[in-house]
Amino acid sequence: MTRRAVVAGVGHRLPERVVENAAFESRLDTSDEWIRSRSGIERRHFAAEGECTSDLALAAARAALADAGLEPEDIDTVIVATSTPDLTFPAVATMVQAGLGMRHGYGFDMQAVCAGFIFALANAQALIGSGLARRVLVIGAETFSRILDWDDRTTCVLFGDGAGALILEAAEGTGAVSDRGVLACDLNSDGRQHGILYVDGGVSSTQTAGHLRMQGKEVFRHAVEKLAATAETVLASAGLGPDAVDWLVPHQANLRIIRGTAAKLGLPMQRVVVTVQDHGNTSAASIPLALSVAHADGRLRRGDLLLLEAIGGGLAWGSVLLRW
Ligand code: UT7
Repeated sequence: MTRRAVVAGVGHRLPERVVENAAFESRLDTSDEWIRSRSGIERRHFAAEGECTSDLALAAARAALADAGLEPEDIDTVIVATSTPDLTFPAVATMVQAGLGMRHGYGFDMQAVCAGFIFALANAQALIGSGLARRVLVIGAETFSRILDWDDRTTCVLFGDGAGALILEAAEGTGAVSDRGVLACDLNSDGRQHGILYVDGGVSSTQTAGHLRMQGKEVFRHAVEKLAATAETVLASAGLGPDAVDWLVPHQANLRIIRGTAAKLGLPMQRVVVTVQDHGNTSAASIPLALSVAHADGRLRRGDLLLLEAIGGGLAWGSVLLRW
């Protein structure tokens, strides 16, 4: 018998404020046309003043609990993937725990930037597989608007805020790839690539939050190559080929990267979930947001095989193969 983490519910929260590309034209040398054609982004949501990562995470968690028909007492572990916590400590996950009224269990944050949700999902599977957890609330939540340099046109037009949540619960199965749940995970990082995507501030260095810095072209080059490789690794470890995949649910950073990865895998765009046009790059929140949107509009069906993949600062990248 194999114990797998199986999806029991999904939900999301986007801040109310929507900012269209054109809004950047008045203060920066940029255009809707450039942003759309280079990234696929058309609009993004930005958190209101005083609206924090934990607020978005908590709302997404409540939506996922409602979708699963579960109560906070049913959850024993909360993992929040984020690079934009409300405070240096405590963890956003403990704020969500308190917000849900949980008096038991534990919560912690996971920081692998845009790949954070993939890392959190793999950890949820490991905790459930080992028997340390039974029901895990996995959240990706970000307020990247707080770390953008509004004078840097090469970065500030690309990111957005939001949160998505999944509830995973233990299920005993035969270990067959036809069983629901997390089938395989692949995690990677290469700290030598720190300089192409990072934040230039932090607690022990500058005592400021800092601003996001990115050499977009370099990250792009790594992304197309590494995302296809990790997708192939995770498929091979499950003994499956790309043909078996019903939905590719990629990190939503750039439509050209998404198209390139799908093409390398031989997957038609009709089998790819794309939300980047409406959300921008929401870092660790992008995959659970995409899952929640595609679940709500009926695209994802129970038993579908999903390939999730992401890359971001670190560099850190990976993928998860999940039967919905
Ligand atoms: O989520 C974490 C992972 N992050 C990513 O996956 C992001 C990866 N990178 C990308 O998505 C793309 O590299 C970008 C969208 C960031 C940039 O697209 P690109 O096709 O690589 O453009 P580029 O950086 O080569 O810039 C092309 C030109 C440059 O001008 P010159 O040097 O050719 O004169 C830039 O200065 O576009 C210029 N440019 C802009 N022009 C108008 C850069 N940003 C802008 C802008 N508006 N906002």
